[in-house]
Amino acid sequence: MRIIKIFDTTLRDGEQSPGASMNVDEKIQVAKQLVKLGVDIIEAGFPFASPGDFEAVKRIANEVRGAIIAGLARAKEDDIKRAYEALKDAPRKRIHTFHSTSDIHLKYQFRVSREEALKRSVEMVKLARTLVEDVEFSPMDATRTEVSYLLDVVEAVIEAGASTVNIPDTVGYITPTEFGELIRTIKERIGDRAVISVHCHNDLGLAVANSLAAIINGAGQVECTINGIGERAGNCAMEEVVMALKTRRDFYNADTNINTREIIRTSRLITRITGMAVQPNKAIVGANAFAHESGIHQDGLLKEKMTYEIIRPEDIGLQKTELVLGKHSGRHAFKTRLQELGYDLSQEEIDTAFKKFKHLADQKKYIFNEDLEALVSEEVSKTPE
Ligand code: KIV
Ligand code: ZN
Repeated sequence: MRIIKIFDTTLRDGEQSPGASMNVDEKIQVAKQLVKLGVDIIEAGFPFASPGDFEAVKRIANEVRGAIIAGLARAKEDDIKRAYEALKDAPRKRIHTFHSTSDIHLKYQFRVSREEALKRSVEMVKLARTLVEDVEFSPMDATRTEVSYLLDVVEAVIEAGASTVNIPDTVGYITPTEFGELIRTIKERIGDRAVISVHCHNDLGLAVANSLAAIINGAGQVECTINGIGERAGNCAMEEVVMALKTRRDFYNADTNINTREIIRTSRLITRITGMAVQPNKAIVGANAFAHESGIHQDGLLKEKMTYEIIRPEDIGLQKTELVLGKHSGRHAFKTRLQELGYDLSQEEIDTAFKKFKHLADQKKYIFNEDLEALVSEEVSKTPE
């Protein structure tokens, strides 16, 4: 079974979400939790971006042990040296340098030729290699780059010393079939000379699907963020890609080093620190991800969990599946909840209480335990404790 490396960029690309900035102490707290979660590489920040970012990367490099610490740097001498300054005390460190390669970026933003971009990329990878052993290179906007030029850049940076080549879908433009083909083409060209990483943005809602397509076709590292936070529509959500691999190991024949039982704790930490709420129906970590309201589903679950649950809630660190009582719920879940609350009802009492419950549920969005207690207390006797 292949182990896919998880490169967490919550503290760098994730922090680029509008409103998600974190202070240095918060970043240390997140980095320590990421180690507990079992990520392989933590991208701690972009040291050249601001004194605060430099300080955060430096402190993480000094205080956090148990993962490779990476710092981002543009393909510029000053950036790379600054990244090294911040990272130097980490026992395992990586400089992640990048340069755009698409004609759109080269022509309109950087105003340099393809040849010039390739030359700078190679020179800066070589410079980074004089400082650290572990260098990653990203051809930014790779998915809108002409493929033969992209392959030339990838070959050249590996030759210059990059051991990981990251293929970013910077603007979330590509679709899974195309991305799978692109990664296969790169894999066929470079073999095992470097790890292929992918970095997918979610503008079309395809970041996780694209990352999975890349894994099938040879990618060995996925860049992602907790809760999928990041620029615009965000990045590939770590919890989703990790649980897809774990749940469908039969198909992917790949797994990660992630301790999935830390997923909920990590997700909630990020929500608390950034103030960015997770949508209730978000896969894996949304409040409703393990909540069932429909009577048919509740009945099935009470008989056998496998009927409607593909992930055990305990596997991501949740206590248990939640059976939400609402107007779609059935008698089975209703009776079970009353038993949990300590009521031992006759069939006739259940029938009367259930009718009242359905009536109430038509008027009220959420039925709490207190509502149920009020509803049955006039009718029935509570079982002595
Ligand atoms: O989205 C992107 O292209 C990036 C690079 C810096 C890897 O975040
Ligand atoms: Zn990005």
